[in-house]
Amino acid sequence: MASEEDVVTMDKVVALCKRRGFIFASSEIYGGLGSTYDYGHYGVLLKTNVKNEWWRAMLQERDDIVALDSAILQHPRVWKASGHLEGFTDPMVDCRTCKARFRADHLAERAPGLVCPQKPSKLPGEGPDCDLTEAREFNLMFETTVGPVKDSGSIAYLRPETAQGIFINFKNVLQFSRKKPPFGIAQVGKSFRNEITPGNITFRTREFEQMEMEFFVPPAEAQQWYESWKQERFDWYTRLGIRPDSLRLREHDADELSHYSSATADVEYLFPMAWSELEGIANRGQFDLTAHATESGEKLEYFDQGSGERYIPAVIEPAAGADRATLAFLVDAYDEETLENGEVRTVLKLHPRLAPVKVAVMPLVKKDGQPEIAKSIVASLRGVMQTEYDEGGSIGKRYRRQDEIGTPWCVTVDHETLADGTVTLRDRDTLTQERVEINDLPALLAGRLAMPWTSPKLG
Ligand code: GAP
Repeated sequence: MASEEDVVTMDKVVALCKRRGFIFASSEIYGGLGSTYDYGHYGVLLKTNVKNEWWRAMLQERDDIVALDSAILQHPRVWKASGHLEGFTDPMVDCRTCKARFRADHLAERAPGLVCPQKPSKLPGEGPDCDLTEAREFNLMFETTVGPVKDSGSIAYLRPETAQGIFINFKNVLQFSRKKPPFGIAQVGKSFRNEITPGNITFRTREFEQMEMEFFVPPAEAQQWYESWKQERFDWYTRLGIRPDSLRLREHDADELSHYSSATADVEYLFPMAWSELEGIANRGQFDLTAHATESGEKLEYFDQGSGERYIPAVIEPAAGADRATLAFLVDAYDEETLENGEVRTVLKLHPRLAPVKVAVMPLVKKDGQPEIAKSIVASLRGVMQTEYDEGGSIGKRYRRQDEIGTPWCVTVDHETLADGTVTLRDRDTLTQERVEINDLPALLAGRLAMPWTSPKLG
């Protein structure tokens, strides 16, 4: 029936995002602000669904994790204890002539795309007027001031990760949640990093959302939980439709490990540009609780009343990016198919639970009472799932429009509906059309949404 078209490129996905209002450059009317993006209607729905699926996996499907929403602004000593003030840096080189700044490691490896702003045919340092400084460490945290007086005592930082908000609340959560290790604390929220080389639309930006969970375990069990979380997180992406061939787990070499980690593996996705990190799963050991206990003077440990044992739990951390995961789901779902009639349709084969709109309801023609029936169907589905009414343009055009945003089901009201109360239900992936009773629609579609899904991409 349908055949594969061209390879998916980042440009095609970015064009679709812009065309259909998923994601666009921020501050566009002022010429944009480098690497900041805004999400439009469908983008918000999609990213919200991604975060909801993460919450579902963390909270609803198990009972050993609790939720947290900590502040973006935290006491500056948090970042001293965590090591970010000292060590969250990249080595940078500045050009004294044109004031441009480059990552020293990118310069050393002559990274593609790195050019002298004055003479783009040359690398920085190789132009006639280049005057580069030695490499200097540049902290990636955004600084701000808190309160009416701007002085050194009022400096605060926008959090560069959500994780520390979890560690500093360990005691509170232990007290109120009635949990004991092994248990986890999960959080979703914005983080900020003054990245030197952002790029690839929302893959690397300076303001982004993280989905992080810190799992506190008896130290002797750390290795087994590390293994189990690696698998669990890999499976989350494939369950939601990412092609297993485009996903891999890559264990870090010793020289790649962060200061806090004794072992880390990345879930990587084969983006059009290269294999790139979606999520890191780290064995952070007792580093963070020990560091905050030392800095704050508070005891951050668990006392097991049964055994009389007192210990600082070890931590296994799956840390994912909501924007990055959303981009991966978009790229992986993107498809161009040539239909039997020669037309090419662009379709997002998203998991129905991720799809921004679940069902579009359309009258075949804008008369004979069809719009009224279609609107009453929308009203009956609205409380069940995200529903859209569409009456503009030919029916083929409307189907294409829904395919492009990944809507799994379209309901069409036609002449037969008036006679027998049935409508056409069209499936995005198989393009099959079945006749169903209007009254059956809410339960039927809710049932399909809840069912395990087999990706058409695997077929
Ligand atoms: N608490 C550990 C931590 O923050 P990380 O690997 O630096 O680890 C975790 O970040 C995830 O957050 C990454 O795998 C990525 O998905 C997302 N992320 C990190 N920096 C990002 C950026 N500049 N833009 C978009 N997402 C980012």
